[in-house]
Amino acid sequence: MPIGTIQWRDARLYILDQTLLPLERRVIPLDTADDVFEAIQSLRVRGAPAIGVTAAYGVVVGLRAAQPKDTADALVVVDNTAIYLGASRPTAVNLFWALARMQRVAHRLDATTPLPILMETLEAEAKTIHAEDLELCRAIGEHGAGLIPEGAGVLTHCNAGGLATSGYGTALAMMFWAHEQGRKFQVYADETRPLLQGARLTAWELQAVGIPVTVICDNMAAHLMRQGRVQLVVVGADRITANGDVANKIGTYGLAVLAQAHDIPFYVAAPYSTFDPALCSGDDIIIEERAATEITEGFGIRTVPEGVSVYNPAFDVTPAELVSGIITERGLLRAPYGPAIAALLAATATETQA
Ligand code: MRU
Repeated sequence: MPIGTIQWRDARLYILDQTLLPLERRVIPLDTADDVFEAIQSLRVRGAPAIGVTAAYGVVVGLRAAQPKDTADALVVVDNTAIYLGASRPTAVNLFWALARMQRVAHRLDATTPLPILMETLEAEAKTIHAEDLELCRAIGEHGAGLIPEGAGVLTHCNAGGLATSGYGTALAMMFWAHEQGRKFQVYADETRPLLQGARLTAWELQAVGIPVTVICDNMAAHLMRQGRVQLVVVGADRITANGDVANKIGTYGLAVLAQAHDIPFYVAAPYSTFDPALCSGDDIIIEERAATEITEGFGIRTVPEGVSVYNPAFDVTPAELVSGIITERGLLRAPYGPAIAALLAATATETQA
């Protein structure tokens, strides 16, 4: 069941603060664009689809807090809020996709539209993006479940579960689905340095529904593969370019290389909102670099000597040729990914316009 990652209640935005998990389950309100920006940047809400949904609501929250005097003023606020929230994190394309969608909907109305209508229209669009994401994840789970063999060891990285989306997740959705069907399998969750999304969040989600999960340190994956314990690797994505290159949490590329060396299938699960047809290849993706303190004193304990330099890219790019398939809400995409991705996005566009 969805775990309330993002909630819109009585016209107010709430998120489950993921920085506190697994120790504390605290829901916090986000009442201003600054609140939303801070929550995304600090990973209180995280995961590509969840960032997109939160930002969509963030436009509504920002607009209300700005108290525009009329619709013309409000349309300027919408654009400025979108630019502002778009600066919170650079890699997950869902953020920019959701913000652009909110701007498009706003600008379909003009300055003569009564202000309450604009507000209602934007709130309705954010709710639609939220509900759609839940459905996309459910469909991804349904399409992907069959890829998990009975008795398999499934390795995943970071958290691509309900916490990273409106609910169900992408990579984890297929596990939830297979589990509901009674299939037995074992998940290995990479702890995912430096912020431990695998250990803190993926393990929490899987344990809650009774899927056997074992946390390993990131540097143990090769050993497990060599031992024959892993039959499948499945991860989420933050941005997939037109040729099928995949940006995801740092460490994903290494897993893909290891999977190929051990002849293990490597799948990526993502909704259409994670594809970026405007970028030809992964070389064009901006990789977020985060604070050195996440490595030098993660979770409050200094583990690196003062003064030592640190490099902290939050994502890496897995080339399309290492990807066995991409699980989407419309089914499994196989190489060559260029035409498969173009067809997916064309079918989505046709349906949306219909
Ligand atoms: O930095 P994070 O925690 O936002 O990174 C999240 C990931 O890399 C996820 O794997 C990705 O967003 C897919 S979520 C369905």
